[in-house]
Amino acid sequence: MWLPCGCTSKYVASSFARRILASHLHVSGRSRCNVAAFMPEAAGFEGVSGRAALRELSVSNSESFWAAVARHRLSWSIPFHTVQDCDLSRGKIKWFEGGKLNVSVNCLDRHVHTCPERVALIWERDERGSEMKYTYRELLEMTCRVGNLLRRHGVKRGDCVTIYMPTCPLAVASMLACARIGAAHNVVFAGFSADALAERIRDAQSSTVITVNQGVRGGKVIELKKTVDTAVESCPTVKQVFVAMRTDNPVTMTARDIAMEEVREQKMLKEDVVCEPAVMNSEDVLFLLYTSGSTGKPKGLVHTQAGYLLYAALTHRYVFSYHDGDVFGCVADIGWITGHSYVVYGPLANGATTVLFESTPIYPDPGRYWDMVERLKINQFYGAPTAIRLLLKYGDQWVNKYDRSTLKTLGSVGEPINTEAWEWYHRVVGDGRCPVVDTWWQTETGGICIAPRPSDPDAEIVPGMAMRPFFGIKPVLIDTEVSGELLTSNNTSGALCMAQPWPGMARTIHNNHQRFIETYFQPYPGYFFTGDGAYRSEEGYYQITGRLDDVINVSGHRIGTAEIEDVVCPAVAESAVIGYTHSIKGQGVYAFVVLKKGIDVKEADLSRQLNGMVSEKIAKYASPDFIQFAQRLPKTRSGKIMRRVLRKVVESDLEGLGDLSTLDDPAAVQEIIQGHEKLL
Ligand code: PRX
Repeated sequence: MWLPCGCTSKYVASSFARRILASHLHVSGRSRCNVAAFMPEAAGFEGVSGRAALRELSVSNSESFWAAVARHRLSWSIPFHTVQDCDLSRGKIKWFEGGKLNVSVNCLDRHVHTCPERVALIWERDERGSEMKYTYRELLEMTCRVGNLLRRHGVKRGDCVTIYMPTCPLAVASMLACARIGAAHNVVFAGFSADALAERIRDAQSSTVITVNQGVRGGKVIELKKTVDTAVESCPTVKQVFVAMRTDNPVTMTARDIAMEEVREQKMLKEDVVCEPAVMNSEDVLFLLYTSGSTGKPKGLVHTQAGYLLYAALTHRYVFSYHDGDVFGCVADIGWITGHSYVVYGPLANGATTVLFESTPIYPDPGRYWDMVERLKINQFYGAPTAIRLLLKYGDQWVNKYDRSTLKTLGSVGEPINTEAWEWYHRVVGDGRCPVVDTWWQTETGGICIAPRPSDPDAEIVPGMAMRPFFGIKPVLIDTEVSGELLTSNNTSGALCMAQPWPGMARTIHNNHQRFIETYFQPYPGYFFTGDGAYRSEEGYYQITGRLDDVINVSGHRIGTAEIEDVVCPAVAESAVIGYTHSIKGQGVYAFVVLKKGIDVKEADLSRQLNGMVSEKIAKYASPDFIQFAQRLPKTRSGKIMRRVLRKVVESDLEGLGDLSTLDDPAAVQEIIQGHEKLL
């Protein structure tokens, strides 16, 4: 049994569990290796000869593996009776049915029983040097207070609460409070506009929103409450908005607003510090999180209780070689899946001290991350390549100023990390002694699926490669041309799919199971399709080659090009948005637009207008870097825009334009090329 403080517990794996394990295992005559020393969850697998064999078993015998891990790692009110009931062809995914538990109890109470004064959160506030610490006891109390407040205001089990807050302790307590009382949460990134927020509130049918008066980021005040006010105007479902104070500036309160009074320093609420946890089924909804697809509106991916928590906890422990007592510094915003899994749920389930980073990598100067590493004594640092590329440009002196000797592992997430950034991260930030783990995963996967050292802390690492599947993950490559043909050899590229389910995967798209099936399970029947392409090297390592659909990744933020086209659409006759390689952001947004006939407008004015529209309707990061005006777009005879051609033009790869014979009018390509050259 894993425990945070080395104490014994009443939650022991039953002899029934051990019998199941034994009956599933082939105990070979090979030399026995103590896998339990490496992975205590695997204590029942006595006959497994080493880590590689354990990893193999986690795939070939995934039911026994996950059953053992789930019994060991989570605290259950009632044990599960069925490990999994999944059918990928129907998008049916169920884990640990019959089991009952509460996620907040797993993240808080069990640590409070054993080590109440351990620091759970270090809030690295925007103002440098003003960090605040919260123990597990304090975080449990805050969570209970918010839980009681929500309950008192009628929030019930099964409701969905939208959280529009910066990364701060009260936001974490709000997420956990929802989990405590059985409500689902829907965290919306606080950089999203009022329209984007409203769309997500409406789709989630939230009647309750939690926000703060103002956010503070990079020294700037952000009017979050005002954004909520605008958003809820078009959300008839919203009955109440809880408002906490992040700054001292009062904001206008309306009849539906409820002040979270006395939340000074995000510690004190009037409510009781005891809140009875709801007993939840494994497959009850824990949260919705909206993300972009290649078509249509953002989709609310649904994650459930036990499987998600287990997967977040296990990956947090093994991908980063996290050990009891470490300070884990993931700098993601809680509005993204990385924040959910590796700021909140994974670390807290493991009893870790987790950092909440509220600022930016360059505020007040480009030494911010490393100053924080020194001050907070961070052991694992997990960030995005876009920030690494930005900091690299400012030079080594900003890193070298600070003591980084506490660092043990460096993580990268969200987009490919180019060799130069990887090398700098490893050599300068990690002094050449910290492994860099390039982790591949998605909102849909719940947690990390491919990473360099999931099972062996000493394994070889190849720069810029996610490399090896995590326990229980079975990636496959499928030929993108001949649908469904499995590519079995190495040194090959194809569509990255998963051949079997794992506990952390999303269960559905909120209110749209059909879209879930069509997007992830129909392209290659029998497999989960990730939307990404990958290369498998001679040695069998995976390297992500990028999206195969019209989703782009700007500064690690995922956005569908169709979403941007939809926004600019009313002002122009036609548009095509594509991603292009950007030296810092990874990808930038390039928009081709065709003006409406007879409209007399200066291009510069319209550009400004279109950029404003995108910021207002989606978020600033989605605004085009380039807007190219064109008379027409290259199309096939059936009228489909040839994005492949546009991409090649923007990448200045005219040699690679390929077969243009299906074009309706080849002259359109020449015009596009000339327009592009003029714009640069
Ligand atoms: O294209 C892949 C890219 O980010 C997408 C998932 O985005 P999102 O759901 O927002 O989650 C981001 C944080 C997990 C993937 O489909 N991606 C993620 N990690 C990597 C990556 N691309 C290359 N290398 C990675 N390590």
